[in-house]
Amino acid sequence: MRPADLIEFKRSGKLITILTAWDSLTASIVQAAGADVVLVGDSLAMVALGYATTLPATLEQMLHHTKAVERGFSGPSKEHPLLITDLPFLSYQCGEDKAVEAAGTLIKNTCAKAVKLEGAEPEVIGVIKRLIRMGIPVMGHLGLTPQSVHKTGYSRQAEDPISQEKLRVQAIELEEAGCFAIVLEHIPSSLAKDLRSKLSIPIIGIGAGNNCDGQIRVTADLLGLTQKQPPFSPALISGHQLCVEALETWVKKQRHQAKNPTKEVTQPESD
Ligand code: KIV
Repeated sequence: MRPADLIEFKRSGKLITILTAWDSLTASIVQAAGADVVLVGDSLAMVALGYATTLPATLEQMLHHTKAVERGFSGPSKEHPLLITDLPFLSYQCGEDKAVEAAGTLIKNTCAKAVKLEGAEPEVIGVIKRLIRMGIPVMGHLGLTPQSVHKTGYSRQAEDPISQEKLRVQAIELEEAGCFAIVLEHIPSSLAKDLRSKLSIPIIGIGAGNNCDGQIRVTADLLGLTQKQPPFSPALISGHQLCVEALETWVKKQRHQAKNPTKEVTQPESD
């Protein structure tokens, strides 16, 4: 699948599902779950590397983790989910040449077929146009943009009519610049619905209601693995708790067997 094929999904009314992955294990799980697209989001800085924000993610880390994710896919490559990777903070904010080098490094050394970046300031629009001219497809990201956390916090964006109009204009600019899709994070669902009908490229929501062309989630959030659950992305299972309980049982059993070495345990253990 190519990035532009997602526009065909929208035309034919097929919902687009996108899950994040940060290593081979999660990649194999989200592929088996049938996600259309896998995003190596810079949220990996928080989910997998333990940072408080996405800001510390580096290009080297994104490259390392994107390679790990692609190694987790199985079967013929034409059956793999579409792989997209995030441009981390400071890899595209310092000019177009640097952005082409960063995006090109990710595309050249991995199977990712597109990059995602945040915002729609005039400089970012310039970067997007240049990347697309250089043959690198781009997915936009508006609303709550975690790389701007120190400006906006993590609260819901576009709450008042002025900021809603600003976001509408920015989304249209992203489409005109050539983005093949836009992620809308943590905004009113009425605004996402409005943009879905205005734009011909897919609107991919997270905390933006059900009236979107696609939905994206951070896999660790859905699995209940993260310590701080975003209010707009509830967990499907208590993954952290389930893992702790399973491993705790194993630890206790080992200690018990060490204290009571009455019989030699051979594989497989029956109890
Ligand atoms: O980094 C990420 O995981 C993301 C999603 C939340 C859209 O950008």
